[in-house]
Amino acid sequence: VSAPFLGVFDSGVGGLTVVHALRKAVPHIPIWYVADQAHVPYGGRPLDEVRGFACGISEALLANATAECVGVVMACNISSAVALSAVQAKYPHVPVLGVVEPGAQAAAHHTRNGRIGVMATEGTVQSGAYRQTLHRIAPDIEVYEVACPAFVPIVEAGAEGSEAAREAACLYLHPLEAHDVDTVILGCTHYPFLLPLLRRLSPQFVYIDPAEPTAEAVGQVLSSLGVQSAPRHRLFTTGDVGAFHAQLERLFPDLLLVSEVKSARWDGGLLVLD
Ligand code: DGL
Repeated sequence: VSAPFLGVFDSGVGGLTVVHALRKAVPHIPIWYVADQAHVPYGGRPLDEVRGFACGISEALLANATAECVGVVMACNISSAVALSAVQAKYPHVPVLGVVEPGAQAAAHHTRNGRIGVMATEGTVQSGAYRQTLHRIAPDIEVYEVACPAFVPIVEAGAEGSEAAREAACLYLHPLEAHDVDTVILGCTHYPFLLPLLRRLSPQFVYIDPAEPTAEAVGQVLSSLGVQSAPRHRLFTTGDVGAFHAQLERLFPDLLLVSEVKSARWDGGLLVLD
């Protein structure tokens, strides 16, 4: 029997930015991470289709027969936007957390001029999740959202330093500069990999990465859980395992050292973790 684990998922490598923060916040808990690379990017897909993927992955983690899932973190903004309440309603006794609420809270706390920018995928912008959450926190905050469809493919390809990345970043930052926001939410978990570029191009903004506040929230919820001194993690992909391994080697070699890389596959609407 395997040790109890925390389930985390995203469409690809983006959610590993959240895993990185989680390993500091809950260092004693084994993490099972699912990268749904068979379907990356999620951002331009119909929201119902994304909800199906997110619910299918959550189900595979929460209803796992070989080990107990002590919580799920949707390390994916678009999944958090469209699937969080459905999964929470189905599993009321297990903590299920997303990244939108912690990201919005952090941004509302940081802004000085009340003007917040959101960089996100098309689907997250379309869902209105950040706008609604920010307005619930503070009704007079002005929110400017920019869909950044080129970013996820750039990060999945490891092309953060390319000219294409620079051009896309200039294009997406421009409207935020024009609207004089002071705080920018990275509303997609792939975007923190582009932070050095964004900071270089628009250093005047405070950039909010929801990963840290999300991990803090998870730490508070799971603080009472039993301790495992040196947890081993499982990193699943629904895509090519060799390519995923190479991405991990480049992005998070430390995590790779304490993890097993495994495959997962979709069978109809169900996800099977091998
Ligand atoms: N990284 C995910 C998000 O935060 C999904 C990105 C995508 O696949 O489009 O929204």
